[in-house]
Amino acid sequence: MAKILVIYHSLSGNTKTAARAVAKGARALKGTQVVVKQALKATVDDLLACDGIAIGTPDYFSYMAGGVKDFFDRTFYPTEGKVTNKPCAIFVTHGGGGRASESVESICKTFKLRPIAKTVLVTNRPDKEKTAELQQLGRKLALAALKK
Ligand SMILES: Cc1cc2nc3c(=O)[nH]c(=O)nc-3n(C[C@H](O)[C@H](O)[C@H](O)COP(=O)(O)O)c2cc1C
Repeated sequence: MAKILVIYHSLSGNTKTAARAVAKGARALKGTQVVVKQALKATVDDLLACDGIAIGTPDYFSYMAGGVKDFFDRTFYPTEGKVTNKPCAIFVTHGGGGRASESVESICKTFKLRPIAKTVLVTNRPDKEKTAELQQLGRKLALAALKK
């Protein structure tokens, strides 16, 4: 059994829709249990307990959303050295920029999480093609978590 945690922040629903697609992709794999949470509500225990984490953020001013940064800020010291090599997947929705991905990738590196795929960038609400890509991301994360 692999536990997948999908965390996200979303004001107008684009990243929430993307998070649901990632979760659907992960759930499709037998032996996975998926929890989807707003980043502001996700806890240190959620991060420690999962076998793989997907992190979704909108691009707000070329940086991750404050809610996602808050998650990283709260969980860094309590999980330091305990999440090394934990598989992670990143997805970012944006209005045409997308530079926020750099900030998430950099912090995941500091946590020593292991990215299992390139960050998926989505312009605003995921269309059919992007939804399939996000589902694939979730599936890849679940596969990596099952192998862990
Ligand atoms: C406060 C704010 C700042 C934003 N800044 C950027 C930006 O710098 N670059 C960009 O490409 N899009 C920017 N956008 C657009 C959002 O990233 C985009 O619409 C995103 O999909 C919103 O996700 P959400 O519906 O999950 O909140 C911004 C939106 C808001 C509300």
